[in-house]
Amino acid sequence: MSGVNEIRSTFLDFFAKNGHAVVPSSGLVPKNDPTLMFTNAGMVQFKNVFTGIEKRPYDKATTAQKCVRAGGKHNDLDNVGYTARHHTFFEMLGNFSFGDYFKERAIELAWTLITKEFGLSPEKLLVTVYADDDHAADLWKKIAGFSDRRIIRIGTSDNFWQMGDTGPCGPCSEIFIDQGSALKGGPPGSPDEDGDRFLEFWNLVFMQYEQVEPGNRTPLPRPSIDTGMGLERMAAILQGVTSNYDTDLFKALIEAVAHAVSRAPEPATMASYRVIADHLRASSFLVADGVLPGNEGRGYVLRRIMRRAMRHAEILGAREPTMYRLVPTLVREMGQAYPELMRAEALIAETLKLEETRFRRTLERGLSILDAESRDLQAGQNLSGDTAFTLYDTYGFPLDLTQDALKARGIGVDTEAFQAAMQRQKQAAREAWKGSGEAATEAVWFGLRERVGATEFLGYETETAEGVVTALLTEGAEVSELKAGQSGLAVLNQTPFYAESGGQVGDTGTIAGAGVSVRVTDTEK
Ligand code: GLY
Repeated sequence: MSGVNEIRSTFLDFFAKNGHAVVPSSGLVPKNDPTLMFTNAGMVQFKNVFTGIEKRPYDKATTAQKCVRAGGKHNDLDNVGYTARHHTFFEMLGNFSFGDYFKERAIELAWTLITKEFGLSPEKLLVTVYADDDHAADLWKKIAGFSDRRIIRIGTSDNFWQMGDTGPCGPCSEIFIDQGSALKGGPPGSPDEDGDRFLEFWNLVFMQYEQVEPGNRTPLPRPSIDTGMGLERMAAILQGVTSNYDTDLFKALIEAVAHAVSRAPEPATMASYRVIADHLRASSFLVADGVLPGNEGRGYVLRRIMRRAMRHAEILGAREPTMYRLVPTLVREMGQAYPELMRAEALIAETLKLEETRFRRTLERGLSILDAESRDLQAGQNLSGDTAFTLYDTYGFPLDLTQDALKARGIGVDTEAFQAAMQRQKQAAREAWKGSGEAATEAVWFGLRERVGATEFLGYETETAEGVVTALLTEGAEVSELKAGQSGLAVLNQTPFYAESGGQVGDTGTIAGAGVSVRVTDTEK
C-alpha cells in the first residue's frame, strides 16, 4: 500500500461504512477551549460533546485532524528533526463515540481496520491497558485472541489520557507493532521502551471522566470513545520504513528542500532537511488558520517555528529566502485533503517570504556572534545568558533557536541569566514609562499587560469564541468581581470582539458564562 493520502481515506471510509459521520478537521486555534494553545488531538473539537454541553446531529464521528504540539502541555518542538517520530504538525486519525459504543465495539473496529483493511500481521501486534482495566484486557483476549503476554498493564499517566489540565479524560489502551529485532528497544513498560522496535501507533481512549480542575474529576454523562492514530506513523509502518521522514509525503518535501538549496541530503545534514520539512507544514497550516508571526502567544510560537527552520536553511547554504519556495510542493501533496491550504497559498508564501527576509537581515550577524561566543565552550558548558539575550533582543533569535544551534555540540544556555536579563529590560522599560508623566490610573494597564499578556484577536475567523477573563477593572482600579448592575472593564485572553483602533468603532455584543450574562457596550485596545 499506499501513500499518505490513500491511508487517510481508507481510515475515514472504514469508519463511514461503520456508521460514523466524516467530520472535517477543526482549525488549529481551538475556538471552544481557551486553555489550549493549539488543537493537539482529534477530540478537541468534540470536548463539549463529550461533556454533554453541545449536541451534534450524530453520535459517532471520524476525522483526520490537524494538530500542532509546539507549546503548552504537549510540546515536541525541541526534538523535531533529531528523532524519527517527532513533529510540530501532524495529522491524527480518530473515531469517536458520544455515548454510543464503548470499549468492546471500539476494540472490534480497531482490530478489523488494522488487520483486515491495513493488513498488519496479528502476530506482530501487542497492546497496553491501564493497570486495573481487566475489562479491556479480557476484550483484547476475546477479540484479538491475545495471550496475557501481549497485553501489558501500565499504571502510569502513559495509559491515562487527558487533553490538558482540564477536559475529558480516561484510561486508554495503546496498540503497538513489533518492528523486529533489527531495531533497538524493548516492549512498553520495559526500561528501553523508548527505542524504535516497539512502536505505538494508535491510542484508544475510554472517555469516562471530566477533569473539571486539578484534583476534581467527575464522571461524563455517558461513557464514550476517543481514538488517536498518528497518520505519519501508520504511513511509515505500511510503507515499511523506520522513520516518518522516509514516507512518501516527507520524501517529496525533502526533495523540494534539496532542490531549493541545490544540495542533496547526507547523514550529517539530514536533521536540517527534516526540521525544514516539518516546520514548513506547521507554519503553512498555522498561517492558513489565521495565525501570523508575532511577538506573543501563538504568533510567537509560529515565529519560533519559522525561524528555527530558516536557520536550518542557512546551514544548508541558503543565502536567499527559501521556505516560501516550498509551498507549492506542500499544497500539491496536502491541498486535496485540506482545501484551506489551497485557498491560503498566496498568503502563506507571502508571510514566509516576509518573515525570512526580515530575519535574514540579522541572521548572519547573529550567527557569527553565536560562533564567537561559543567557540571556547565544551560539551556540558553553558552559553552566557547575556549573550543569549542579546541574540534574542537585537538579532531576533528566539531562545530555543539558540539552544537548538548549540545542541549538537552538547552546549546549553544559562536560561536563568537569560530570564534575569529579560526582567532587567522590562524593569528599565517600566521606569522609563513611569517617568513619562501619564495619569496614575493608567499605570494599572502597564502592570496588567506584563502580568496577563496581550489579548489575542480571533475575529478574522469567528464571531463567537470562548475566552478566559484575565482581569476586571472599575473606576481605574483592578477588582476581583463586578456585581449585577455594575459596569466595568473585562480583559480577556482571547476574543472575537474587534477593538476600537484607528477610527473604527469597537464591537458590541454579549459575554455569557454559567449563570452570568454581560452586555458588552464597547471594546477598546
Ligand atoms: N486523544 C487521544 C490521543 O491523543 O492519543
